[in-house]
Amino acid sequence: MNTIRTLLSLSIIFILSCNSPSNPLEVQPPYKIEKQLVTENAMVVTAHPLASDIGVQTLKDGGNAVDAAIAVNFALAVVYPRAGNIGGGGFMIVRTKDGQSQALDFREKAPKAATRDMYLDKDGNVVEGLSRNGALAVGVPGVVSGMVKAHEKYGKLSWNQLLEPAIQLAKTGFLLTQPEAETLNKFQEEFSKHNRHNTVFQQKEWTIKDKIIQPELATTLELIRDQKEAGFYEGVVATQLIDEVKAGNGIMTHEDLKGYNAIWRDPIYFEYDNYRLISMPPPSSGGIALAQMLAMLEHYPLNEYGFQSTKAVHLIAEAERRAYADRAEHLGDSDFVKVPTSQMIKESYLNQRMKSFDANKASVSKEIKAGKLLAESEETTHFSIVDKEGNAVSLTTTLNSNFGSKTVVKGAGFFLNNEMDDFSAKPGVPNQFGLVGNEANAIEPEKRMLSSMTPTIIEKDKELFLVVGTPGGSTIITSVLQVFLNLVEFDLGLKDAVHNKRFHHQWLPDQIYMEEATLSSKVVSELKSLGHKIEERSSIGRVEAILKIGNELEGVADNRGDDDASGY
Ligand code: GLY
Repeated sequence: MNTIRTLLSLSIIFILSCNSPSNPLEVQPPYKIEKQLVTENAMVVTAHPLASDIGVQTLKDGGNAVDAAIAVNFALAVVYPRAGNIGGGGFMIVRTKDGQSQALDFREKAPKAATRDMYLDKDGNVVEGLSRNGALAVGVPGVVSGMVKAHEKYGKLSWNQLLEPAIQLAKTGFLLTQPEAETLNKFQEEFSKHNRHNTVFQQKEWTIKDKIIQPELATTLELIRDQKEAGFYEGVVATQLIDEVKAGNGIMTHEDLKGYNAIWRDPIYFEYDNYRLISMPPPSSGGIALAQMLAMLEHYPLNEYGFQSTKAVHLIAEAERRAYADRAEHLGDSDFVKVPTSQMIKESYLNQRMKSFDANKASVSKEIKAGKLLAESEETTHFSIVDKEGNAVSLTTTLNSNFGSKTVVKGAGFFLNNEMDDFSAKPGVPNQFGLVGNEANAIEPEKRMLSSMTPTIIEKDKELFLVVGTPGGSTIITSVLQVFLNLVEFDLGLKDAVHNKRFHHQWLPDQIYMEEATLSSKVVSELKSLGHKIEERSSIGRVEAILKIGNELEGVADNRGDDDASGY
């Protein structure tokens, strides 16, 4: 009922904005989008205004932050198909009002039949695109298991109630925003290439006036509503999924689906001044790399150096370089390889790592074959939620690339991920994000591929301070780092901390990437004279953050997309 009300009011906004544009050349978005909002009770910040709205309604209906996260996650699977999903995986950090934290790992797994060299040709070379396109790129999806586990542990509202808004949206449809219409248009050729049937996402040209109705997805969501995990990992949806994979010569089986289980893990905790950060442990590299970078930076007077000054960017880039070098060598699924977490975040070790830092000269990353960053920056999605009792959720989920493998399961209506590309197909050979990996992230049956997703919750003086995260592949960790530093070192307000442009170093390729015109030409030329290579690239990340200020919550949605803060 509430969802219907929401949809009606949004339709009215749409009609008004389309019928009376202030400038006929200016296309109005169909939704009211808030980039910054201060509320007294609760806040939801997501990549799509309809999802934010559903999260807030769930909270108003008596749900807690985890209930809202589940409702938002399924809503994003409908309204944000490029990354919101049931065919992929993700991570969630929960911090309850009494300060207890848990990490939920619903990352995809390699199918049982996966082999270490499955993406290599007979000469041992990586077959370009094999880990990214088609059925062989698909990892065993984790989202449905993750949401069921989250609900079992923390849910207050009924499971059915949390699925209902997404089901209604899939049935009645939703209006496209301009950026989403453009994104769909960009991928039409790939949708044709990777689907054996005509999907609801295929149309000659999408425009802002179009509505997407997803009856097949609605049926799938109804099965999940009625049967929980069995509605996805068994029965008709499982058969549709495996048929799709088989049609594309993939290797996933019914046994893989039935055997999938999301896992509760201990988060990784670390400190920076009087802040305590709670973030994701392996199989994400996010928490460890963030801990490493902050420890490397903590003893330098960043505030004195100044925001995006040559000294600050040089130092931060050098810390990023060292953390990503460690990532490539040591990190993988800790259920399969020994990850030396405590050593990697030890102060003495990190001080040692920074011994080679030279304030007057860029370091040189080890010379091995490096990859290029592709212009695929918004392939994942993050949302942050705080409820009126102070429970907080930070959740990042992904299909990997935009629309994952681009393949929609026939009859079931959802995109399959291409997460297998996050494994190291061959030591030293970069994946789509230009990231290289080693033994620790080699493919093994049932192993989880290494991730950069960094859902994070930060306490200050033991109280909730910030809920933060972002999509952006390899740039996720450095975006979270920079938003935090912007707030606590460079004294920016949350809006500026999130909306300001960002830069990124990931060891290999040996260069600083920056969004267009991030740094002044003076800073760029000074960094070059220190020996840094600098390259402009497409936008970096879409950060969704909630800051607790006294008794109020400030929500900021990134200005790099349709992202929206909503609350009450
Ligand atoms: N697929 C992007 C990540 O997990 O880091």
